[in-house]
Amino acid sequence: MKLYRCQICGDPYLGSAPPTNCPFCGAAQKYIVLAEDYQDRNDIPDLSSRSRENLKKALELEVNNSGFYLCAAACSPDPVAQAMFKALAKIEAEHAATICKILKIPKPEIKPDDKACQKDPKANFAAAHEREQRAVAFYRQGAADATEDRVCQVFSALVEIESDHIHISETRK
Ligand SMILES: [Fe+2]
Ligand SMILES: [Fe+2]
Repeated sequence: MKLYRCQICGDPYLGSAPPTNCPFCGAAQKYIVLAEDYQDRNDIPDLSSRSRENLKKALELEVNNSGFYLCAAACSPDPVAQAMFKALAKIEAEHAATICKILKIPKPEIKPDDKACQKDPKANFAAAHEREQRAVAFYRQGAADATEDRVCQVFSALVEIESDHIHISETRK
C-alpha cells in the first residue's frame, strides 16, 4: 500500500496505485501524488480581490449544489440514483471545503436543500445538468481571471470535474 494525496483537495488516499479520480473531490489522476511529493499551495499571501470574489461565488455555488444533491439523494426512490446523488453531494462538499482553505474561512455546514429538488430522479438529473453547466461556465471564467497559479489550478480542475458530472447527468436526465 502506498499513501497518496490529491493536489486539489489535499485528502490522503491509501492504495496500491493512484485512483483514476480523487475519491474525495473527483480531480483527475494527474493531480494525485505520493504523500511525500504533496505541496500545500493553499496559502496565497496576495490573493487578488477578483479571485477572492470568484472563490466566494464558487463557494456559494458548491454549497448550493451539494445541498441540492443531498435533497435529491433523500428524495429519490431509486437506490442507484440515491447513491449517485450522494456521491455528487460529497464531491461538491469537498469542493466547498477546498475553497474555504484558500479563503481561510471555516467550512460551512451543508444541509439538504429541501426546496431545491423533486421526487423524480430524471427531473433532478435535468436540474443537475443545468447546475453543472452554470458551474463549468463560471469556473472557466474564474480560471481565466486568476493571476495566481493555485487559483487557476483549482478552477481548471473544477472545470474538468464538473464537466464529468455533466456527462453523468446527460445520460440520466
Ligand atoms: Fe481531491
Ligand atoms: Fe463542485
